[in-house]
Amino acid sequence: MTKYEAIFRRKSVRRYKEEEIPEEILEKIRHYGAHAVGIRKEVRIKWKVYRASDHNVKGMFQVKAPYYAALYSEVCEDCRIHAGCLMEQLVLWLHTMGIASCYQGGARLKHDEEEQMELMMILAFGYPSEALERSFVDFKRAELKKLVKTNITLGKVQKKLLEAARLAPSALNQQPWRFVVTENRIHLFIRRPGRMSYEKQLNRNLFQAGIVLSHMLVTGEELWFDLDYQKLDSIMEKAIQNYLYAGSLILQKY
Ligand SMILES: Cc1cc2nc3c(=O)[nH]c(=O)nc-3n(C[C@H](O)[C@H](O)[C@H](O)COP(=O)(O)O)c2cc1C
Repeated sequence: MTKYEAIFRRKSVRRYKEEEIPEEILEKIRHYGAHAVGIRKEVRIKWKVYRASDHNVKGMFQVKAPYYAALYSEVCEDCRIHAGCLMEQLVLWLHTMGIASCYQGGARLKHDEEEQMELMMILAFGYPSEALERSFVDFKRAELKKLVKTNITLGKVQKKLLEAARLAPSALNQQPWRFVVTENRIHLFIRRPGRMSYEKQLNRNLFQAGIVLSHMLVTGEELWFDLDYQKLDSIMEKAIQNYLYAGSLILQKY
C-alpha cells in the first residue's frame, strides 16, 4: 500500500493492543521527514517518541495508546502548516505498515522542554485492536461542492487533488478549510477563529491546513502532477467570508 492509497482507507483508531513496535520503526519515526513531500529543510523540527509507561502524556480527550509521537518545531512563519503536513504524512506512512494512530489535540506533555522549539502536536499510535481501516463510503465528510468555490469546470487533476483533500482528518471532523479553484491554482483557506482563544484556534487551523495540504501533495507525488506550494502576495490580503488565506498550490503542467 502507498501513502496515497492510505488516504482513502485510514481512520482514527482509539483502541490499541499492547504489542511492541519494532525499534527500527520507532527510530525511523524519530527521524521522519527526509522523504516527505512539501517539507522545508530549513525549518528545525524534532520528534520524540514516548511509551505509555513513561506517563508523560496527559490532557483532555486523550486516547490510551502504547506510544505517542510528539512533534516540536522552531517557531517561524508557516511552522504549523509545515508541522501538519509532516505529521499527516507520518500518519499515512504508519498506516501502510498496519500501524494505527489518532491525533491528540487536547493532550499535553508533563515534561516538554525543548530549547527554542514549541510542541506542535501529539499523535497516539500503535497496533490497532479495532478495525484499522474504513471503506470509502464510510468517510463522513462534506461534499466537494460545499468546500470548493470556482467558476470553472474542474479538470481531472483538480478533482483528484480535491478529492484527496476532502478526506483529510480534522479536529472534531470540523473540516475547517475551503478551496478556491482557478484554471491552474488551488487556493487554500482556513476558518477564521472566533474571538475566544483566537491564537490557539488559529494555530490549530494552520496545523490542519498542513494536513489537508499533505493529502494534495502526496496525491501529486503519486500521480505525477507537478505541484508547487506558494504564498501569493496577490491573495494574501484576500479573505473569503470568515476564512483566512493559507497558501496556493500551483499546478505546473497538466
Ligand atoms: C488537529 C486534530 C486534533 C485532534 N484531536 C483529537 C483528540 O484530542 N482526541 C481524539 O480522540 N481525536 C482527535 N482527533 C481526531 C479527529 O476527531 C478525527 O480525525 C476526525 O473525527 C475525523 O475522523 P477520522 O480521523 O477517523 O477520519 C483530532 C484530529 C485532528 C486533525
